[in-house]
Amino acid sequence: MDRIPEPELMVEKEQVISYDEADFSEGEVNLINQINHYFLRKNVSLSEKDLIVDLGCGPGNISEKLAINWPNTEVVGIDGSKEMILRAEYNKNISTNQKKLKNLRYICSDIKDIKSNNFFLDRDISLLVSNSLIHHITNLEDFFNTIRSLSSNITVNFHKDLKRPLDEKSALELKAQCSTKYNEILTNDYYASLRASYTFKELKNFTLENDLSSLDVFEDGDNYLIVYGNV
Ligand SMILES: C[S@@+](CC[C@H](N)C(=O)[O-])C[C@H]1O[C@@H](n2cnc3c(N)ncnc32)[C@H](O)[C@@H]1O
Repeated sequence: MDRIPEPELMVEKEQVISYDEADFSEGEVNLINQINHYFLRKNVSLSEKDLIVDLGCGPGNISEKLAINWPNTEVVGIDGSKEMILRAEYNKNISTNQKKLKNLRYICSDIKDIKSNNFFLDRDISLLVSNSLIHHITNLEDFFNTIRSLSSNITVNFHKDLKRPLDEKSALELKAQCSTKYNEILTNDYYASLRASYTFKELKNFTLENDLSSLDVFEDGDNYLIVYGNV
């Protein structure tokens, strides 16, 4: 199936609310466990001086879990959509875990502008994360240029996203499954996301052809891809 790009930023209020109200907690907990697993394997531990950045943080579900899981670090969630950042701030303020989120802050910025704005005052990022972001990015160069420019030799990258289905029939089956759990707006967004996603081959070839082969690209189950490692 050919890739059909979708708009990068999620800016519509109804779209933001539908996304925020859906329960993706199983996948989110899974992602934190996967990062923990890799850290254990590589003997990495994070402490006070460490900075974690969540790119395309949306309403902050992953950012909050990162902040709670690594309470001694500083966590920054970044999204280019003002509406999403407002939602993330709101969620942080009403959270029953509010006291545990003091190490979390949000910035509204397109990922392509982060480096030039020097938000981190040249501090090294220890963990650079994204979930369900890559498929939004129209050109893969923009995503990989961003993570390359934000990474230093200590940065562990962990980026998880949807994998593009093989054909339209498979995409429609996944859409139908989604519609049993979520509303129409979210179901349509999910279908658009599936069609905008990249394939394993596209991500892998990009890393090989652009001097990024230290990044591992692998399939996670039938429907997800992970980009992991140092740049
Ligand atoms: C599908 S949501 C994922 C949100 C969150 N990471 C999660 O897993 O719940 C994708 C988010 O990426 C943001 N986004 C897309 N393109 C972006 C860009 N170029 N710069 C910054 N944020 C972007 C969108 O606005 C949206 O909030």
